Amino acid sequence: MEITFQINNQLTTFKTEPTTPLIQLLRSERQLTGAKLSCGIGRCGACSILMDGELVNACLIMAYQASGTSILTIEGLNEEGGHPIQKALLEEGGLQCGYCTPGMVMAITALFKRTPQPTDEEIMEGLSGNLCRCTGYTGIIRAIRRCMN
Ligand code: FES
Ligand code: FES
Repeated sequence: MEITFQINNQLTTFKTEPTTPLIQLLRSERQLTGAKLSCGIGRCGACSILMDGELVNACLIMAYQASGTSILTIEGLNEEGGHPIQKALLEEGGLQCGYCTPGMVMAITALFKRTPQPTDEEIMEGLSGNLCRCTGYTGIIRAIRRCMN
């Protein structure tokens, strides 16, 4: 089947199978490897992207379901010298292995879109779908607060 959607503001057409997950299409067909395939069952958030502005797990969405939507991946977020959230994570020690980081950045982006000045409770809720095994959340939360100042 043929599908067309926006990826990082570029209209793109793919041929795909009905059973191909969106994460596979992004990584294999477009080399957008920032979103990671980890649990594959919607538990870890490593594959987080924005679809029409909403945070979603690209491992749970079939590629054809993206038809007609606008997808934003971590690659579309980059600005020269790095996005402010990425810089804040670096400066506050919010990452170690970095495997979770692209998904975490997308979750934080979605959080700020919804709530520019989130409370502690809103921050925890915003990160609730994204697991980090090595850093813990203290540095990540400091980075979020740094972005709010
Ligand atoms: S890989 Fe998608 S939620 Fe874990
Ligand atoms: S920095 Fe390694 S899982 Fe988060």
